[in-house]
Amino acid sequence: MSGLFITLEGPDGSGKSTMIGLIGQYLKEQGIEHVITREPGGTAIGEKIRGIIIDRENINMGPETEALLFAASRAQHVHEKILPAVEEGKVVVCDRFLLSSLAYQGVGRGLGIQEVKAVNEFGLRGMTPDLILFFHVDPEVTLLRKTKEGGDRLEEEGGVFHREVYEGYMTLLRMYPDNVVVIDAEKSVEEVYAQTIAALTEVLKSKEETL
Ligand code: TYD
Repeated sequence: MSGLFITLEGPDGSGKSTMIGLIGQYLKEQGIEHVITREPGGTAIGEKIRGIIIDRENINMGPETEALLFAASRAQHVHEKILPAVEEGKVVVCDRFLLSSLAYQGVGRGLGIQEVKAVNEFGLRGMTPDLILFFHVDPEVTLLRKTKEGGDRLEEEGGVFHREVYEGYMTLLRMYPDNVVVIDAEKSVEEVYAQTIAALTEVLKSKEETL
């Protein structure tokens, strides 16, 4: 039996991390077998790659290198964790996936959406999310929330970069609207949670119906 693959996307500071914890709690309460994971990282190898990516000392990293490292971390994640869990029938919930690379490296770094997509597809083994929860927050709000001093190498990028990433996401949502639910993440945690669980139960229900 095949499980479900759900990803969370959005700009830095959109509150995904809080929500993924609550999603995990909800799935536990429902007795649904699940795996909560994140990118970059998610595996021992992926976490090492994450360390290289976010290290503030790596100021010389080229944009292509950055894109390849994210893609490598993702390939290992699919190979070692995501694909096996979905094949076992589990619900896999992942904080960031392909869309992050398309927005951050494809648009933010200016490498091109199609170019970054091609590099990633090599390691995806056809894994596409059954549901993408996109946490929408106006860039002015996220910049205030997150781009503070002491962030990691990407968080410390300036406002122009983060605005480009936001615009990149908006373009991507128009290009690939399938399986995307946009969550208004400027609301209170309770309201964001309610929107998230509504989208989640919908996809869980449609999976049950196809069994
Ligand atoms: P993370 O620490 O998970 O940040 P957040 O909590 O905001 O999700 O991710 C580190 C940074 O890496 C974050 O700024 C987003 C960025 N990123 C990319 O640029 N490309 C990618 O493919 C992924 C997965 C993340």
